[in-house]
Amino acid sequence: MILGRLNHVGVATPSIADSIALYRDVMGATAIGAPFDLPAQGVKVCFVDTPNTQIELIEPLGADSPIRAFLEKNPAGGQHHVCYEVPDIHVAKAWFEEKGLRVLGEPRIGAHGTPIFFVHPRDMGGVLTEIMATPKGAH
Ligand code: CO
Repeated sequence: MILGRLNHVGVATPSIADSIALYRDVMGATAIGAPFDLPAQGVKVCFVDTPNTQIELIEPLGADSPIRAFLEKNPAGGQHHVCYEVPDIHVAKAWFEEKGLRVLGEPRIGAHGTPIFFVHPRDMGGVLTEIMATPKGAH
């Protein structure tokens, strides 16, 4: 396993519109993507670009969104996960599993259109960790 760049920090929010206003008007973000639905993952997503990484705003989509429980515990929203790039998603998955860490599901296409998987926060020092295949042509 080769640890790549920090691709994004995932931030759960009850309202992407309110969070966009915060990042734009308070934090001075100038590159904010259009929000889009990711029905397969049960979330609406919006990327805010910073000079060296992105913030991934995630809002629940549908009744059984996987981030509903998080927002019940954190009604104002909060930092939800961090995402690192790796050169090979399958090598990375096998690496974590070999070490006995809990990989949550099979690699699937994430918000960047590249394969991703999550590693259980209890096996990652309390941090829900997303592992993403480095996007083609990136960087
Ligand atoms: Co993410």
